[in-house]
Order: sequence, then C-alpha cells, then structure tokens
Amino acid sequence: MSSNESQTRAQFGRTGSTHRRQFASDNYAGISPEAWLAMEEANAGHERSYGDDQWTEQAANLIRNIFETDCEVFFVFNGTAANSLSLASLCQSYHSILCTEVAHVETDECGAPEFFSNGTKMLLVPGMNGKMDPAGVERMVKKRTDIHYPKPRVVSLTQATELGTVYTPDEIKAVWAKAKSFGLRMHMDGARFANAAASLGCTPKEITWQAGIDVLCFGGTKNGMAVGDAVIFFNRDLAAEFDYRCKQAGQLSSKMRFLSAPWVGMLKDGAWLRHAKHANTMAEYLEKSLCAVAGVKLLSPRQANGVFAELPRKAIEGLWAKGWMFYTFIGAGGCRLMCSWDTRLEDVDAFIADLKQLLLA
Ligand SMILES: Cc1ncc(COP(=O)(O)O)c(C=O)c1O
Repeated sequence: MSSNESQTRAQFGRTGSTHRRQFASDNYAGISPEAWLAMEEANAGHERSYGDDQWTEQAANLIRNIFETDCEVFFVFNGTAANSLSLASLCQSYHSILCTEVAHVETDECGAPEFFSNGTKMLLVPGMNGKMDPAGVERMVKKRTDIHYPKPRVVSLTQATELGTVYTPDEIKAVWAKAKSFGLRMHMDGARFANAAASLGCTPKEITWQAGIDVLCFGGTKNGMAVGDAVIFFNRDLAAEFDYRCKQAGQLSSKMRFLSAPWVGMLKDGAWLRHAKHANTMAEYLEKSLCAVAGVKLLSPRQANGVFAELPRKAIEGLWAKGWMFYTFIGAGGCRLMCSWDTRLEDVDAFIADLKQLLLA
C-alpha cells in the first residue's frame, strides 16, 4: 500500500473500492470509452513489440499533427517516469532544475528526477497560485553563481499547475525569455495539459514549442486513459538516446501498442479536448456552487479541473464520514476537489447538498 493510499484510508476512514464518482483525484475515474475501444481494437491478432507497431506510429503521428511540428515522441507508463527521465535528458548531474515549491517533481515523485539524473538538484522558486514568474527565475539564478553551487540548467513548469491554475502563452513566453537569457532549457509537466489547453482555448503549439518548451510530458491518465504519458521533444536534439534511458528505467513496454492505442482513440477525433473541457466545466460548476455556500473560502482561482477550497473542519470530517473522498494535503493546503472526464452535475449537487446539511447541523 502506498503512503498516499494509507493516508487516504486514514482520512476517509474506509477501505475497499468506491462506486460513487469522487473528487479525490482525476486518477479515480475509469477509462474513457474512446481509450477503451482503441485498446480493444489493438487486441486483435499479433503485432510487433517494443514500439515497432502501427499503433505507436499512428499515435506519434497524431501527436505531431496536433502540435503541428515534427517532434520526437516516446510513450512511458506514468508521469513520474516521463518527468524524471525527460529532466535527466536535459541536465548533467552537477546541474539544477528550477521549479515551484508545489511542483509535483519536487513534492510527489520520491526524488525520481534527482535519482534518474544522478543527483541534479531541485531549486525551489516561490510563486503565486502555483506559477513561476520571470523575476523568480532571475532571483534564483543570481542567488549563487559560484562553482560550489549546482549550475541552473532547466526551468520546469506545470501546466495546468498543481493549484488548478494555468499559464497563458504570454506568461510562458515571459519565463522563457528570462530562461533563455541564462541559457536554461524549458520542461513542462503536462499531467493535465489537456485541461490547460481546453481552458485557454489556444492551440497546443502556442503553449509549448512556440513558447519555448523543449520537452512536454503530456499526461494521458487523468484525461481518461488507463496508463501512460507521452514524452514529446520539440527540441529533437535533446531526445538523443532517450530510448535507451526509457529501456534502462524499465519504461520500454514490450506490448507497447496497449500504451499507444489509447492515444489514438483519444486524439483522432478530439476526445482528449472534449473530456478535458467537460472536466473543467464540472469544476466551474462546483466552484460556483461552493461560492454560494456560507463558510466556504476558495483558495486559488479555478482555471482547469480542480477547485481548492477551505472548509470548516467539521464539514470535512462529516463529508468523509458520508463517504466522500478528497485530499487536504495537496499544494498549499485546503481541500482539493478534482473533477474528471466522467464527473456529472448530479455528483456536484449531491456533494454540495451534503456539505450544506453538515454546515447547518
Ligand atoms: C502535476 C502532476 N504531475 C505529474 C503527475 C504524474 O504522476 P504519476 O507518476 O502518478 O502518473 C501527477 C499525478 O498526480 C500530477 O498531479
């Protein structure tokens, strides 16, 4: 059992599976019909292994079409692997990576970025609402420039952020301009990239390679797939020998088609954006509903599929006792309420009704 899981059990006070759609994480949701169907279609007959199959080729080409550029694409099992292996490919062990204090790469990857890069140090930049700004980058780079300090080499941004906000194209470009002036590379943790793209309504290229991103870890799991992230190198030189890194780290799937086929299902007719838009809309509805409840305070602006709110302790415990699951230890504290591709209006209504009843009691 993972420590998150034991913490979850301790908090929610129950074990076993949940049949109710929950707000704990977009990982709680199942597999979307499009991803499921593609897996089923990929399960016909025999196929070449280790990524030499037609599904992997098709998925990589769809990603190239969506991003409108000839990028290098790799499929790995999860976000931690995608982030840490791609960061390792941007750094030497004596380098450092600038990220925010709430970045998943810092707080929730068990030191994997440091491990896979043989000791690269994370430098934590304070930021507002989970976002890094150019001034923060400059302060951190100039803090020390001597040989005794790990040399800054990469800026890592999370899009959408761990606090449910999104970077606009101009905000990313502003960080890039500063990063470029110091010779830093740009990494993007896009575990919720689909939610950010849906929220901003801009093209994927505008918030990635056109804004200076060298490598994007494009998350599939939270968008409705069973497993998998795509590591996308817009700066193709940085992808040199990345296939060896994946293999060494146990991230080269022998039956790769089952990692890549869901991407085909999700990307070919826009299901990835549709599902992300839906999750964002449900979060917007949840946010509005929470705003109408006395005693609830929103903690950061909701711009994607997560709402961060402060609730009275008795309401939190009452909601857990009623079987609702949500975390209180993510980001800057408060309750994190995540909506998913399958969240429904009635789930939000039921949650709000229970909250109101508990606050009246
Ligand atoms: C911001 C962010 N990045 C990356 C990940 C990917 O993590 P995992 O290794 O669990 O797929 C997550 C998952 O919660 C996340 O929230």
